[in-house]
Amino acid sequence: MSSALTAAKSGTFRIGSDIEVNRLGFGSMRLPGRGVWGPPADHAEAIRTLKRLPQLEVNFIDTADSYGPNIAEELLREALRPYKGMFVATKAGLARTGPDEWTPLGRPEYLIQQAYTSCWRLGVERIDLWQLHRIDPKVPRDEQFGAIKRLLDSGVIRYAGLSEVSVADIEAASKVFEVVTVQNRYNLVDRTSEAVLDYCTRHKIGFIPWFPLAAGRLASEGSLLDSVAKRHQATRSQIALAWMLKRSPVMLPIPGTSKVAHLEENVAAVGIELSDEDFAALDRAGRSQ
Ligand SMILES: NC(=O)c1ccc[n+]([C@@H]2O[C@H](COP(=O)([O-])OP(=O)(O)OC[C@H]3O[C@@H](n4cnc5c(N)ncnc54)[C@H](OP(=O)(O)O)[C@@H]3O)[C@@H](O)[C@H]2O)c1
Repeated sequence: MSSALTAAKSGTFRIGSDIEVNRLGFGSMRLPGRGVWGPPADHAEAIRTLKRLPQLEVNFIDTADSYGPNIAEELLREALRPYKGMFVATKAGLARTGPDEWTPLGRPEYLIQQAYTSCWRLGVERIDLWQLHRIDPKVPRDEQFGAIKRLLDSGVIRYAGLSEVSVADIEAASKVFEVVTVQNRYNLVDRTSEAVLDYCTRHKIGFIPWFPLAAGRLASEGSLLDSVAKRHQATRSQIALAWMLKRSPVMLPIPGTSKVAHLEENVAAVGIELSDEDFAALDRAGRSQ
């Protein structure tokens, strides 16, 4: 491995009081088969990709019971257990009824069952970080938060977070348990969660943007992103990641890939230092999309 290629250059973020991670993490949703359903298209390459993570000092991994379902957690166990120095964040709260089908399911007994069974699939006694994948609109919000409190109190999970939530949701949940991370869709051109990101920055809550590489139309040839990328001899995806890391110290991007080459390319993004001018110009262009 080139000694220059390390996620440590992205800086660190502390989750709760004692989990320190390098800010550039890894998302495991792309490992299962098409439609995030069933086994990987290339099992050997999926395992190689995961085994490359510790070599690149990527020590924060996002997964969920619903990826596969079960498959992503089982692959993590196969490739990385006992996870020396690596932190795995999993989620529950979405049932799977087929490829690309996701249905919120937030009944407390189901959330609790899924946290326990994630422990088995991952091969851990306790989950470092467990996040409610969606607040289920069919179940009172406080019942779902109460289940999370129970999981924390019983020690099945160490820390807890939320996904696809508003500032009001975070404030309501914070009355029941400490919210240490929020995972919402966010990238250079999708700024719907800007207010949530600002809230997380103020409160030092980790913000995990999903779909970080979807740079949309900004990414076309001849675009601003394209010209900044050419100047840095980088790819447009790398500039999109570098922009996100500069956007907030609580930002923890988790680009997802099933391929070693793409993983290495994504990690190399942490070596790119955008000037304040480039950052501001990309910011303006992204907001106007
Ligand atoms: N909380 C939620 O509701 C939620 C929802 C969706 C995702 N997530 C999490 O967020 C993570 C990231 O989101 P995402 O996977 O949707 O989006 P993403 O990371 O923006 O994009 C992933 C896609 O880009 C490709 N890719 C990755 N690196 C690349 C590179 N260097 N060059 C070219 N293509 C590249 C991947 O394909 P290859 O496999 O071919 O590289 C994959 O198709 C997921 O893995 C998951 O852990 C959370």
